[in-house]
Amino acid sequence: MLSIKNLEAGYGKVQVLHGISMEVPKGKVVTLIGSNGAGKTTTMRAISGMIAPTAGEISLNGTRTDGMESFTIAKLGLAHSPEGRRVFATMSVTDNLILGAFPRLTGSRPKGDVQGDLERAMELFPRLKERRNQLAGTLSGGEQQMLALGRAMIAKPKLLLVDELSLGLAPLIVREIYKQLLVIGETLGTAMLVVEQNANLALSFAQSAYLLKQGRVVLSGSAAEVAANPLMKSSYLGDAKAAEESST
Ligand SMILES: Nc1ncnc2c1ncn2[C@@H]1O[C@H](COP(=O)(O)OP(=O)(O)O)[C@@H](O)[C@H]1O
Ligand SMILES: [Mg+2]
Repeated sequence: MLSIKNLEAGYGKVQVLHGISMEVPKGKVVTLIGSNGAGKTTTMRAISGMIAPTAGEISLNGTRTDGMESFTIAKLGLAHSPEGRRVFATMSVTDNLILGAFPRLTGSRPKGDVQGDLERAMELFPRLKERRNQLAGTLSGGEQQMLALGRAMIAKPKLLLVDELSLGLAPLIVREIYKQLLVIGETLGTAMLVVEQNANLALSFAQSAYLLKQGRVVLSGSAAEVAANPLMKSSYLGDAKAAEESST
């Protein structure tokens, strides 16, 4: 599905990613772990075409996408739910969801039943249905996150990038959102690349994991292997667990 080889990227003269390689197989959930500033968001941005890689290859279903515009990559079946859940605050919940179908409507892929997809997105996140006519800016943080994900999923992506959906949300809401997201993913056969600050949580549902440190992959394998690695245990899992316990 997604294949990355020796990717290098950054901002202006600052190189952030120093040759990372990773694979997200069709329909699988992969998590990208690392402390603040490790380059997780930069990786997501490079995949979705928000920044241009300076070296390496990115391919989606065998098509080279590095160097392509975001919009073209979206048409190939990629959706990105960015850090900080960007919703269009002055538009209604329904209009935000419809925007998600845009790449599909203008692309060469089957247009399908947008109205039906809209209904299904609202069934999966019933709170969105209750608030369908409300302006997105007036939703709670958790509801805005549901909307950002609903909007990403309505395009029926083959690959969904999810960046730190838990930011600023209560752990209980985070679990509820992941539960729903994984159900949608499974139903549609969507592969996902998930960045999650709670590494324990991410490793509990992902099939495989990559640990990034200063723009390099320092550990990878099945989620169970990565979770059991002493490096993970000492530097990442302990902290995340303590952080979660203290916030509940
Ligand atoms: N827009 C930007 N311009 C310049 N540097 C940036 C920008 N965004 C991130 N960086 C830098 O890139 C590095 C990696 O950031 P990021 O990918 O956001 O890390 P993570 O998501 O893992 O916390 C950090 O040193 C950060 O300061
Ligand atoms: Mg980030």
